[in-house]
Amino acid sequence: ALAGSATLACANFPDKPVTIVVPFAAGGPTDKIARDLAEALRKPLGQTVIIDNTIGAGGTIGAAKVARAAPDGYTLLVSHIGMATAPALYRKLSYKVPEDFETLGLINEAPSVLIGKPGLAANNFAELRQWIAANGTKVNLANAGLGSASHLCGLMFQSALKTTMTPVPYKGTAPAMTDLIGGQVDLMCEQAVNAVPQIEGKKVKVYGITSLQRLPLPALKDAPTLSEAGLKDFNVQVWHGLYAPKGTPPAVLAKLNAALRTALKDPELIKREEALGLTVVTDERLDPASHRKFVETEKTRWAKVIKDAGEYAD
Ligand code: MLT
Repeated sequence: ALAGSATLACANFPDKPVTIVVPFAAGGPTDKIARDLAEALRKPLGQTVIIDNTIGAGGTIGAAKVARAAPDGYTLLVSHIGMATAPALYRKLSYKVPEDFETLGLINEAPSVLIGKPGLAANNFAELRQWIAANGTKVNLANAGLGSASHLCGLMFQSALKTTMTPVPYKGTAPAMTDLIGGQVDLMCEQAVNAVPQIEGKKVKVYGITSLQRLPLPALKDAPTLSEAGLKDFNVQVWHGLYAPKGTPPAVLAKLNAALRTALKDPELIKREEALGLTVVTDERLDPASHRKFVETEKTRWAKVIKDAGEYAD
């Protein structure tokens, strides 16, 4: 009887609202992306999609909640690159990546930009590089906390320059940005989705794009990639993915994946994402197996950077 009712539950899925756990604060980049996705999923799922912001510890508290949730498809997770970096950054993680999750598909890629406080004398990346070389550990590099996108990008930036700066961690992107605008810190490497409004408002200086392609946004039309500006092959790109708890029935996963594919073809969603500097991923990357492989590749790539930097939580 149990097996029969489980089959029926799969056939009827979803017959009540689905919850997406967002492991970061409301109003931040991940939250914005998840809310847009929730809206676009409503039609293909035929149900309301509710956002639950369960925040803290670099997104690991929300991810742990989903790892422990009932594997019935009603509790999902939207998280970022932190899914792949948390195992190296948080030594006492209560879940395994990707083993404790079903990867449902990538959502987008979210390029970052290197930005500076308004008063910085350097006017381009070459000048900034000289200034960093002259000031070394006196350079304050803001980040939104251990495991945040800005923290990871900052680690990679220091590693590429073979320089140690002074990391200044904040409790989120908003306070970090506030202090950068106020000149209390010098630099930050932040997701375009969050930085573009400040660049447009001329509240911060922009030195370059951290991934390999320029961004077709008016505010960034003169911004080179760091790779073309001299830091050859520098490539840090945040990405977001959709996850379910391990053990979710295959029939439910298939429905969720199909809904994700439909949602990411929604012209309204694509327009909103592009305006934020995000790139919706191509169809083949929406495949659960390729999503899983990508998470594993990123996990390996970052584990080394994180180990070399020696910045982690016990
Ligand atoms: C957020 O959504 O708050 C950010 O993506 C967190 C971060 O900077 O990593």
